[in-house]
Amino acid sequence: MLHFLKISALTLLAALVLLIIGLNLWGAATLGSHSPQASAKRDGQANRVVMVFGATGSVGDGLLKAALQDPEVTTVYAVTRRLSPRLQAAQAAGQVQVILHEDFTDYRGMEDVLATVNTVLWGLGTTSIGMDPETYRHIHEDFPTAFVAAWLAARKAGPMAFHYVTGMGTGEAESAQWAQAKGRAERRVAEMAEGTGLRTFGHRSVWIRPTDENAHLGTRLLEPLLQPGHLVIRAVDLGRAMLEISARTAELPNGTLIDNRDALEYARVYRQHTGLGEAG
Ligand SMILES: NC(=O)c1ccc[n+]([C@@H]2O[C@H](COP(=O)([O-])OP(=O)(O)OC[C@H]3O[C@@H](n4cnc5c(N)ncnc54)[C@H](OP(=O)(O)O)[C@@H]3O)[C@@H](O)[C@H]2O)c1
Repeated sequence: MLHFLKISALTLLAALVLLIIGLNLWGAATLGSHSPQASAKRDGQANRVVMVFGATGSVGDGLLKAALQDPEVTTVYAVTRRLSPRLQAAQAAGQVQVILHEDFTDYRGMEDVLATVNTVLWGLGTTSIGMDPETYRHIHEDFPTAFVAAWLAARKAGPMAFHYVTGMGTGEAESAQWAQAKGRAERRVAEMAEGTGLRTFGHRSVWIRPTDENAHLGTRLLEPLLQPGHLVIRAVDLGRAMLEISARTAELPNGTLIDNRDALEYARVYRQHTGLGEAG
């Protein structure tokens, strides 16, 4: 019996190691479509007013942290149903303006604020596991499209950038309903933005490591195992990549899809010019 258990455990371990190696080889071979150009112009005003959605979540906490640390950001809004420890502390310090909100398809009453917003970091979203497809579609397609419609009604002059964390595997042609819903949302917000001052980006990240404050031992151990294939990005680095892409107002066109390796590259140049370290 003991022998059988030992063999089973070793087989499982070997399968896991092979899976991690395979995923890393795949990531190293396929990821990376866009890289920051040295000659690209940066607009230091492009991220003056940032609005964060999903700030109470694992990804959104890092997006919020990145916005709060950015020296070019003068105002941060968080549109949220509740407070997180970071929101609470930042609100108390006067660093974030919290807008408590319940219906994410309705932005009436927020027009004056929306007219001032340059950059939106959208980390609102949830797992499809155990959720009925229509609710999932409503959250991931109706919420962002309703927001972009309201934003464009309130403001038309760029620079404006909308960054939506969709995830690897997103696509209208995919078989999974979650992937289709997010893919439709990516396309629809880009179509809405055509001819306006807005650029929209779909971030097809692989695994987004929580912020240092929220990363437990398991996530810290997993991170280096996924780095060779560019399969992991820290949540705060994803936020930095978004801010860097926004500041480079003429580099990436509306509707560009950003994969995990692309985001790592933009975060790297962001850290270089801000002098911020890798801690996140
Ligand atoms: N984590 C990753 O590694 C990863 C990788 C790729 C893509 N993504 C995508 O990133 C998004 C966020 O993931 P996460 O890991 O940060 O999830 P999370 O920790 O569960 O956070 C979800 C966030 O979305 C908000 N939210 C969810 N449903 C909502 C609703 N019906 N109305 C209003 N707010 C709602 C939550 O607000 P409350 O606190 O009020 O519930 C929370 O702020 C998801 O779409 C996910 O698929 C994540």
